[in-house]
Amino acid sequence: MNKTFSTVLGTGGFLPQKVVTNADLAKTVDTSDEWIVARTGIRRRHVAAPGETTCDLAEQAAAAAISAAGITASDLDLIIVATTTADYVFPSTACVLQERIGAGPCPAFDVQAVCAGFIYALDTADKHIRTGAARCVLVVGAETFSRIIDWSDRATCVLFGDGAGAMVLGAGGEPGIMSTHLYADGKYKELLWVPSGVSTNYQAVTGARAYTQMQGPEVFKVAVQRLGDAAVHALGANGLSAADVDWLVPHQANLRIINATTRRLGLADDKVVLTIADHGNTSAASIPLAFDVAVRDGRIRRGHRVLVEGFGGGFAWGSALLVY
Ligand code: UT7
Repeated sequence: MNKTFSTVLGTGGFLPQKVVTNADLAKTVDTSDEWIVARTGIRRRHVAAPGETTCDLAEQAAAAAISAAGITASDLDLIIVATTTADYVFPSTACVLQERIGAGPCPAFDVQAVCAGFIYALDTADKHIRTGAARCVLVVGAETFSRIIDWSDRATCVLFGDGAGAMVLGAGGEPGIMSTHLYADGKYKELLWVPSGVSTNYQAVTGARAYTQMQGPEVFKVAVQRLGDAAVHALGANGLSAADVDWLVPHQANLRIINATTRRLGLADDKVVLTIADHGNTSAASIPLAFDVAVRDGRIRRGHRVLVEGFGGGFAWGSALLVY
């Protein structure tokens, strides 16, 4: 029997209109454009308007991906949204999105793996397609991380931004997605987290809202090691080397982390898709947004081999290798 694989039919991305530059942040916290650029590579980020939600961003990215794929929303038979900043406690953002885009009553659910969320969602979608459970899947990474940032905390507020990216996957006779590798290690949970939630009742106990907290240097060290490992595993599982890769589309958290992965793989700098300067870290949205940018500007072309990797709170991380 012929095998079924996932292929990328189309991509989309969306960024909210408002741009906050490093110079803007330097007016409200003790930071500088020089420090942020030197330590992170970030120059500006987009921030959602009051009332603009994660699903609003997801809807625009999804519409662009559906149009690029040449399908209609009614063709979808699965919707997965990777997000840490859902519109509601419930229902899932995927269910809200399903109604917005006019999809049929297909399964729809959210995946929560913070900055690795898109890789987790891609893996889940790929497995549905490979097993024949779905033939046309919308995978979205969408975030309004600005809502869980303390804008007076310079250690975190300079890093994050809002946005959404999307991919439509279809069933095909050839990969497509060659492999996915997922990992998690909950012992690191307190190095990068928002220590509140529905069940912990943080606000009632402390009288304060909780925001993103990060032990930056500790996160940095583990991220460099684990992302490098995940990229090496992706290549090894396919019997390939970095020379066989056309593009690396990394999670955009810190340019120095990306450079460390590039060096470890021995990959040329001009094979790396970078959006970090303009987007900052958009968590689950960062990989599909960067992917879409490089598709639309003509860098990623049909037949190119693309390595994607992400790392975030949990810690959760992973990689995927695909032929676009
Ligand atoms: O996407 C999820 C995964 N997240 C990540 O991968 C993020 C990983 N971590 C990082 O990217 C980096 O650790 C940061 C960018 C967050 C911080 O960079 P760093 O080089 O590790 O800086 P640091 O935290 O060691 O701080 C160095 C100095 C400190 O001052 P002293 O103690 O040397 O006087 C900080 O207080 O820089 C200071 N600092 C700042 N200065 C200006 C920290 N944040 C800022 C700031 N502006 N925004």
